[in-house]
Parts: sequence; structure tokens; C-alpha cells
Amino acid sequence: MSLTLIINVVYIVASIMFIFGLKMLSSPATARRGNLLSAGGMGLAVIVTLVDQNIIEYQWIVAGIIIGTIIGVASARLIEMTAMPEMVALLNGSGGLASLLLGWSEYQRNFDIVAFSAFVIALTALIGGVTFSGSIIAWGKLSGKLDGKPVLFSGQQVVNAGLLLAILVCTIIFALNPANGLVIFIVLIVLALILGVMSVIPIGGADMPVVIALLNSYSGLAACAAGFVIENNLLIVAGALVGASGIILTNIMCKAMNRSLANVLFSGFGSVVATSSGAQGEQGEARPISAEDTYPILEAAVSVVVVPGYGLAVAQAQHTARELGELLEENGADVKYAVHPVAGRMPGHMNVLLAEANVPYDQLVEMDDINPIMETVDVCMVVGANDVVNPAAREDETSPLYGMPIINVDKARTVIVLKRSLGVGFAGVQNPLFFKDNTRMLLGDAKASIQNLVREFKES
Ligand code: TAP
Repeated sequence: MSLTLIINVVYIVASIMFIFGLKMLSSPATARRGNLLSAGGMGLAVIVTLVDQNIIEYQWIVAGIIIGTIIGVASARLIEMTAMPEMVALLNGSGGLASLLLGWSEYQRNFDIVAFSAFVIALTALIGGVTFSGSIIAWGKLSGKLDGKPVLFSGQQVVNAGLLLAILVCTIIFALNPANGLVIFIVLIVLALILGVMSVIPIGGADMPVVIALLNSYSGLAACAAGFVIENNLLIVAGALVGASGIILTNIMCKAMNRSLANVLFSGFGSVVATSSGAQGEQGEARPISAEDTYPILEAAVSVVVVPGYGLAVAQAQHTARELGELLEENGADVKYAVHPVAGRMPGHMNVLLAEANVPYDQLVEMDDINPIMETVDVCMVVGANDVVNPAAREDETSPLYGMPIINVDKARTVIVLKRSLGVGFAGVQNPLFFKDNTRMLLGDAKASIQNLVREFKES
């Protein structure tokens, strides 16, 4: 068997491992193994690629692997769960930059190429450049290094259209005459970097995770194009898988927010929220409750649904929430955890936290399954969730959230909301839930509040 054949067979095995790994990521029960399987596939692919005879010297590759491993392990261990979207933004950006550099180096290696090769190199640099600069802006916005508000100015669409046109013209000129195309190639890269910035600045805070998923998809497409440039089948397959799964995820998130992708990308949602009537101040009197007074309500409950949100992640209250859940069960209550598809700040955010706290998977319920039985629920405990339980999304046509599917916690017999204040959620919209007759506000850090409830259960 020739080396090329062996490499390609291993690539096919690695591709199958990627596909099964991705499939396993769709359930919390199998997600860890899925991640390992995909990582194993990538490890295998890297090893066989390194035996490829086209590699002239190994010292830079070894140095890259060592540095990359140190950075990867350190960042995965040090980064807080709440900072995960920023980390993903940086990883996407690195993927984009890698593709951009690959396009650049392939062109430097040989100026005398056919039009198709030049076109693919231009595409690699273009998508890589957009992904890189777009991801850096997304990282800046998510980490608070840049203002998270959408940047909108008159004539923005015209400027973007002009940029696209210029990129198209540069790509054609470069593809037709790559031998003399160095300057035009550099111009193309600069325009791609500007386009990346221009496409992310009009997007506001709450929409950033969607953009991250979209940039993830772009980084896959850039890798796919890079695969064509260096004629590496596995890079083409892996890039296509990342590109497709990124766009599917983007679509799922848009649907969960009842928004179109165009609306997310071009509406400047953050600025709409700030000026909309639905984002106005308080709408009544909220009724605070203490942990002591919450205890008898929970103690008498036959069914309890916990609805976690971003505040659960901030408070790191998942372990205490599970402990309280166990005490409620021992007390005879049926306990479920209802997870909204966009609760938190990234896809699966709540699932990851609850899995980390060993909440049994069969206690997790999705929004569409819990809503029809919400009227029969005795107590709904909203733990640091806000937008995803905001009834204005269902009732108030003037609300910026109107139309977004929510978990209908207000339909439960009693709602206990655990948060620190009556403040708004990520979308900046006031929540009428806090002022409903069946709602009580257990104000304070979610972890401290749940610890107090746990103490009440243990001491009585
Ligand atoms: P949010 O609406 O962001 O509300 C979180 C609430 O947690 C805040 O109102 C805050 O209130 C409370 N909180 C913060 N720290 C707390 C602590 N230590 N203890 C107790 N409460 C605390 O969260 P959500 O309901 O999960 O909604 C997610 C938002 O992100 C939605 O707007 C969604 O569209 C957006 N989004 C999410 C995603 C994904 S994939 N998850 C993607 C795109 C957009 P206090 O300050 O009063 O405590």
C-alpha cells in the first residue's frame, strides 16, 4: 500500500470519527465522549499528516505543537465558564488567521499559478481575513475591551456594498494575473480585514453569541478553502463539517430568539432595545421574600421546576441548586430543570453547568416540553434567568423581545425569582414577571440564596 493511500484511509477514519463525535455532542449524556472521539480523530489526522513526505523539516512544527499545547491547556483550564464565548471567538479568529497565512505562504511559494489556484488562494485569504478581524472585534465586545453596543452610521450598507464590490474586483484581477498580483493580493487581504470589522461592529451585545456561531462557520469555510489550496482532503472535510455545523447552530439560535439572521446581522438590536418603549422602567411593585418564607412554599410543593439562566453561571450556583433539588426530592417533590435554548451566553451553557453539578440528565426538560404542563407546576424557581422567562415576549407587542419563545414560568402556581435586583437582563428589557401576583423575589446572589434554602431544609 502506498503512503498516499494509507494517509487517505486514515483521513477517512478521522472524518468518520468527526461525524460520530459531532452527533454525540447533541446529548449531554454522550457529549464528553463525542468531544474525545473528535479530538482523537484530529490527533490521528495530525500524526499521519506529519509522516507526509512533503514535509521538509520538523523543528518549526514541533515548536508550534509545544507552544500551541501549552496555550491550549492553560487557557482551557484558566478561562472561566462565563468567558467561554470570548475564548471561542479567539479560537475562531486563530483558525481564520491560520487560513489567511496559509493562503499567503502558498502564494509566496509560487507566483506562477493557474487562475483556479489563484482564485482558491484569494478565497482562503478573504474568508480567513474576515473571520480573523471579525472574531477579534467579537472578542473585544464580549470581553468588555470594546463597547458592546452596535455601531451604526448612515450609509453603512453602502460602504459595505462598496467593500464587497472592491473585493470582488480584486479577486477577479488577482485570479486572472497572479504572476503580477502581489499588490492586489495585499489590497485584497486589507479589504477582507476591514470587511470583518465592518460586519461585526453593527451587532449588539445580546446578539454576539449568534455572531460567534456564524464566525465559527466562517472559520470552517476558510479551513475548507485552505484544504483546496494545499490539496488536503481531511482539511476540506473538517472545514466543511465546521462550516455546516456553525451555520446550523446559528440557525437554531436565531429561531430560539424568533429573529432572522439578517435581523441579527443588520438591525443593531442593542440600540433598538435602548430606545424601545418595551425597555422602559419598572412596571409595578415587586414582592420580595426571604429564604425563611420561601422554605414552607417549597416544602409544600409537589412539583418544582428550576429554570436556570445566566445568573446561575455568574453565581456558580449549579452545585447548590443540585443539592437543593435532591432535598426537594427527598421531601417527595418531582423536580425538573427546564432549559431554554438561549439561556446563558452560549449554546448549551446551562446543560454544561448542570452536567458539571451531576444533575441527572433525565431531569432536564426542554422549553417545548415544559410549557404545555406549566399550569400544573406548584413552584417555578427562576435562578438568574431573565430574558428567557420574560412574558413581555409573549404579551407586549412593543417589546423588543416580542415573539421570542420563552419558558412560561408565569403560568406556574408560584414563581420564586432568584436574582440580585430588579435589574434588566442581557437584552436590556424590563421584565413584567417580577410584578405579577404569583411572583416573589428572593433577592441576593443566587448561590447564597440557595444555600440559605438548603440550610432551612436541613435545620427543620
Ligand atoms: P439574562 O437575561 O442575561 O439575565 C440574567 C440575570 O441574571 C440578570 O438579570 C441578573 O440580574 C441575574 N444575575 C446575574 N448575576 C447573578 C447572581 N450572582 N445571582 C443571581 N442572579 C444574577 O439571562 P437569560 O435569561 O439566561 O437570557 C440569556 C440572554 O442572552 C438572552 O437575551 C438571549 O437572547 C441572549 N443570548 C444568549 C445566547 C445563548 S446561545 N445562550 C445567544 C444569543 C443571545 P441581577 O443583576 O439583578 O442579579
